[in-house]
Amino acid sequence: MAREEEQFERIPTHICRNSEEAASTVAGEIAALIHERAKAGRNVVLGLATGSTPLPVYRELVRLHKDMGLSFRNVITFNLDEYFGLSDDHPESYHQFMWERLFKHVDIPKDNVHVPSGTLSRSEVYAFCESYEKAIEDAGGLDYQILGIGRTGHIGFNEPGSTRDSITRLVTLDSLTRLDAARDFLGEANVPLYAITMGVGTILKARKLVLMAWGQSKASVVQAAVEGKPNENLPASLLQGHPDVRFFVDGTAAEELIRVKLPWLVGTVEWDPRTIRKAVLWLSNTVKKPILKLQESDYNENGLGDLLIHSGPAYDLNIIVFNQTQHTITGWPGGKPDADDSHRPERAKPFPKRVLVLSAEPHEDILCMGGTAHRLKDQGSEVTLAYMTSGNLAVPDNLAKQTLALMTELEDEMAFTKGDGPSLGQFAEVILKSIEEKKDSEADSESTRRIKGFVRRNEARDAARILNIDTDSQAFLDLPFYEKGRYRNFVASDEDVDALAKLLEKEKPHQIYISGGLADPGSVAGVCYRLFCEAIRRVKRLGWVKDCRVWSYRGVGQEWPLFEIDMAVPLSPGELASKIEASFQYRSQRSQYPFRAASHREIWQETDEINRSTAEAYDAVGMAEYEAIESFKGIELAALLDS
Ligand code: F6R
Repeated sequence: MAREEEQFERIPTHICRNSEEAASTVAGEIAALIHERAKAGRNVVLGLATGSTPLPVYRELVRLHKDMGLSFRNVITFNLDEYFGLSDDHPESYHQFMWERLFKHVDIPKDNVHVPSGTLSRSEVYAFCESYEKAIEDAGGLDYQILGIGRTGHIGFNEPGSTRDSITRLVTLDSLTRLDAARDFLGEANVPLYAITMGVGTILKARKLVLMAWGQSKASVVQAAVEGKPNENLPASLLQGHPDVRFFVDGTAAEELIRVKLPWLVGTVEWDPRTIRKAVLWLSNTVKKPILKLQESDYNENGLGDLLIHSGPAYDLNIIVFNQTQHTITGWPGGKPDADDSHRPERAKPFPKRVLVLSAEPHEDILCMGGTAHRLKDQGSEVTLAYMTSGNLAVPDNLAKQTLALMTELEDEMAFTKGDGPSLGQFAEVILKSIEEKKDSEADSESTRRIKGFVRRNEARDAARILNIDTDSQAFLDLPFYEKGRYRNFVASDEDVDALAKLLEKEKPHQIYISGGLADPGSVAGVCYRLFCEAIRRVKRLGWVKDCRVWSYRGVGQEWPLFEIDMAVPLSPGELASKIEASFQYRSQRSQYPFRAASHREIWQETDEINRSTAEAYDAVGMAEYEAIESFKGIELAALLDS
């Protein structure tokens, strides 16, 4: 029976500490099933998914095979889906994915593996889909199906509109799904339009269903699937009612569930200062009254009577939360010299501070905290902007080509060639040719990646100049995990941690700004954040670390909700305008296909809106009215060391 706080949840949901913990439970269950069946001389039929989500499960299964002798000889697998039009050896095909991530590392017989074919002719599709369904049935049906969830709410490639009894078939991919896959395919234009997928009905026939989700980008769709009414517009919600379905999510993917977001509505709450602040700010928002106008009746009528008993009366509570919120606002993100800092987010001393701003890719710093970086610099802090990866994977070919064309023109202009080596123009032409001859979603050559990296460096420099930030203070780390990898295929190593630890050691910062703690652990931002935690663990004994504060910015196009904010830095209209002008410099980040969706907004628009709306949120609860705000959450060193 569901516990009180889970009363709104229509699917049993396990909130795990992180994806590894969840993966080890899921892989452990699969391993137990394999053992049990092997003992009885029977097969196990697994339904498998691709994408970032199941990767930690596959890693764990491979480990269990290698270290613990788990055999896959009695395992039969059926994958959920495959892109239509991709050959088995295409780098982004799900055939490739599965062989690279799981099958080739274990002893599964080749004939036991089934992945829908991506190379059928239209006329063959129907018969193939029927045979796929029949093969599942003939194998005894799916014993254990693992699932991820797309931001559209899809399971497999059952996009919104898929019916409960749909079976394996050819489907059209949703535009959001194609956008999410654009990075893997090195451009949205390369993402197939169609896929073959098991149907919702096929999935529902599995005896056990486990859906996993990591990272904040899945939080709202997880909430809708778990707490919303089952409906075909959100296919994952159709899993409700299955006799053995469970969701495994990490803390950030669980953030929108009522028991996490509004715990006072579902049960007894352990009131601590942050939860109190969250509740009062939520109340102020819900009843649309500034904090200082909230009354006893507002608390009582909105499920917060218990809070009044704990820390009332309303008058006192209002004042406490008003002051806390007020004290998060500062125009001095590096601390105000010679000021009483007892109610300021950052300490006054030492001053000026050494500040290290870490971004996973060159653009996050300015888009997320350009105004703050500008202020820090202006107010005398030493600011280093460090980019952990070159970001070259996100640069479209046309921008690289423009740069190369510029190189050839430059050579003509300056009669650049000297000596016998290849001239600048020849060098550019070779790379240009390799781009021209590249097949769709084929990886770039090393030289092309370098050129694309230069494109991003230059964008980052142009943006910094607009904000009067010294370009000499920009550090491009080009971490090896990224340079050697491809999306969903990043393998971080000690080399990466070394590079970061070395930077920390060199800078000995008093403040570090970082993001990525809420990201999918397999994404670039997620990998970078974990590397940072590892690097901090490595240097933790050094004296300066104890004197260092870590501030987290939320991510591109995002700001923290009010109750999470520990430091809010207001921007004047002029400062916001400069920041937006700086964001225009990131040409590689602009949508290549603006005609794709009418609702599409460029990142500078998102930035402008989110900074303005954070200011509006402050205004609405009764604070001063600012043009825009950038927000930060303080991270305890202990939490970093533990993550
Ligand atoms: C993959 C699949 C999809 C993914 C979903 C989430 O076989 O069927 O439903 O599970 O798109 O993708 P990731 O895990 O990459 O976020």
